[in-house]
Amino acid sequence: MSQHHQYDVLVIGSGGAGLALALNLPEHLKVAVLSKGDLAGGSTYWAQGGVAAVLDDSDNIDSHVQDTLVAGAGLCHEDAVRFTVEHSRETIDWLIEQGVPFTRDDEHSRGQQGFAFHLTREGGHSHRRIIHAADATGAAIFTTLLERARQRPNIELLEQRVAVDLITERKLGGLGNRCLGAYVLDRRRGEVDTFAARFVVLATGGAAKVYLYTSNPDGTCGDGIAMAWRAGCRVGNLEFNQFHPTCLYHPQAKSFLITEAVRGEGGQLKLPNGERFMLRFDPRGELAPRDIVARAIDHEMKRLGIDCVYLDISHRPAEFIREHFPTIYERCLGFGIDITREPIPVVPAAHYTCGGVLVDHHGQTDVPGLYAIGETSFTGLHGANRLASNSLLECFVYARAAAADIVQQLPHSGVPRTLPGWDASQVTDSDEDVIIAHNWDELRRFMWDYVGIVRTSKRLQRAQHRVRLLLAEIDEFYSNYKVSRDLIELRNLALVADLMIRSAMLRHESRGLHYTLDYPETLSDARDTLLVPPAYRPV
Ligand code: FAD
Ligand code: SIN
Repeated sequence: MSQHHQYDVLVIGSGGAGLALALNLPEHLKVAVLSKGDLAGGSTYWAQGGVAAVLDDSDNIDSHVQDTLVAGAGLCHEDAVRFTVEHSRETIDWLIEQGVPFTRDDEHSRGQQGFAFHLTREGGHSHRRIIHAADATGAAIFTTLLERARQRPNIELLEQRVAVDLITERKLGGLGNRCLGAYVLDRRRGEVDTFAARFVVLATGGAAKVYLYTSNPDGTCGDGIAMAWRAGCRVGNLEFNQFHPTCLYHPQAKSFLITEAVRGEGGQLKLPNGERFMLRFDPRGELAPRDIVARAIDHEMKRLGIDCVYLDISHRPAEFIREHFPTIYERCLGFGIDITREPIPVVPAAHYTCGGVLVDHHGQTDVPGLYAIGETSFTGLHGANRLASNSLLECFVYARAAAADIVQQLPHSGVPRTLPGWDASQVTDSDEDVIIAHNWDELRRFMWDYVGIVRTSKRLQRAQHRVRLLLAEIDEFYSNYKVSRDLIELRNLALVADLMIRSAMLRHESRGLHYTLDYPETLSDARDTLLVPPAYRPV
């Protein structure tokens, strides 16, 4: 039997953005936080490097703004960049108040001037401004916020709940398009329940799983972007997919990242013959922004026909390496690689979705009552290429801003409505799940081959042709069979892939992460790629 639930705020996603939003709401509100798998299943848990913020006396807001604008290749919205950076200090203070155990800087904690926590450096940053918890910052933040949320009686944390689609006035035949709730698959019971809410927040993370090789955990399928699109939200800049230059290359190492902080602390990229090559591509060498480093590695791998390049930090003292990168040290040792003595084999992999659901400075989307925060959203901060460690900062700054906006909007929001239940009367159990597995593999492979680090118009056309065929097949499957997590994810991945390809085809230039051999120049006029869905209604 399917169930009907009512909340003040429904938060879809239990990563950094979702938990931070829930914790910033007042305790009299009834809040549900959903996760499609375990609560720790999002990218946040796996974040390594840290959070970028202006924290040290020698640093300043203009410098962080400038570094972000440079990495973003002319496409950042300067107001969003300034808004985020100006709120960075108070956001980090809030995380520290929650109890996040950031790594301390021994010198500073002994009373010298400056900030009490250790700040590391990453590509594109002109200062040391990355606050971190060794090389497992995401786990430290996630665990702390989860513990806090568990102490709050008004917050219900619901695992194994997959949001299928949003419920809007328009979908119910109304004139307006307010978001009223969501249909949610309870994987334990196999039933789709109805969640009515005064406000719904999409905090569902990115869509890097659309690519065959990715640093992301399994659930990053762009569910929030797809649900928002179907509900009538515009999406922006989805052609900008960031490839992290250094993921561990080892047959058994699924999705393991080697943090950029390794390069920040002196790590050098080398070819199999030991030659350092980054200075041939950029005077900033290993600390050039990610798009440049990933493209340089891709170029060298294709030129030499090699499977990987090498990241070497073994010239630093072994004790320093073990202290700063304990997780990476242990993980690599488990694969027989002692990083204090030998270089690490690395390859680029899809890492971050720069575009997403268009929002304002409060995370408000085009659909009233619906917010999008974190990697799902498109705030304008990242432009054509995200600066390292600006993502977690964006999650927390916008989570807090959206929570404040919800509180302001409360008096105008009415009560949660009674909504119609999910109609499963026309569907049966699938006896052809092989179609889902096959389509899933095919999609991720052609996205990697045709919509990857280097693109051409022909490759994009091929990808578009294939994704359209898949969409038709998936739609038919969806109309006839009961939903499962795999089917929901495939349906969303295919839609988001289509939106990415459409966006890439509309950009007739190379800029930041979008590099095409057919349009290698950067145009003087920098414009966002905004796509408008059929259900869009201007407010
Ligand atoms: P996530 O943390 O991905 O959480 C998404 C949540 O949504 C999950 O709980 C998931 O279960 C849920 N969800 C998704 N779809 C549904 C659905 N349909 N129904 C119900 N629930 C759903 N950024 C930095 O700034 N610094 C770093 O050092 C850094 N390191 C990184 C290292 C790795 C390996 C990776 C993968 C990313 C890293 N990033 C880093 C990027 C950053 O971690 C992410 O952008 C950020 O954590 C995203 O947070 P989020 O809350 O938006 O989403
Ligand atoms: C890393 O630690 O290299 C990841 C940082 C990021 O994605 O911002």
